[in-house]
Amino acid sequence: MLLVLMVACSDGEDTGGSGVDCTTAPEVDWDGFGHGFVTTYCVSCHSEQNTDRRYGAPEGLDFDTEAEFYASGARVRARTIEEQTMPPGGGVFTDDLQLLDVYLTCQLGI
Ligand code: HEC
Repeated sequence: MLLVLMVACSDGEDTGGSGVDCTTAPEVDWDGFGHGFVTTYCVSCHSEQNTDRRYGAPEGLDFDTEAEFYASGARVRARTIEEQTMPPGGGVFTDDLQLLDVYLTCQLGI
């Protein structure tokens, strides 16, 4: 895992930041992973269902659909995988970070 993150950092400029090899990575898509991931870690703040208790999450920055997640994919990679400041304070399981990297890289092309 550390290795993946280190590659991700050093490789940043030309590959979009990921060291994932999509030919050997497990298949990870929205239904099997992405939706559950945002449900667990993000939509408590980032959801359009959530009008009064967003804990400061920017208005309109919601992750209820894959399209919305895709639209912010580069920032998700930066904040969740690289800086680990989203969700605030981090705390995403290492396995989930790794799958998120695979999902962003291989499914969304980010
Ligand atoms: C406890 C509430 C909370 C949770 C949970 C949360 N966020 Fe956020 N998010 C915020 C707040 C507050 C901001 C605005 C302040 C900031 O940028 O740090 C924000 C801003 C963002 C931004 C825009 C800022 C930027 O740097 O571009 C992105 C992208 C983001 N969050 C992604 C995520 C993702 C992905 C998850 C789940 C893995 C997540 N957030 C979980 C509260 C939350």
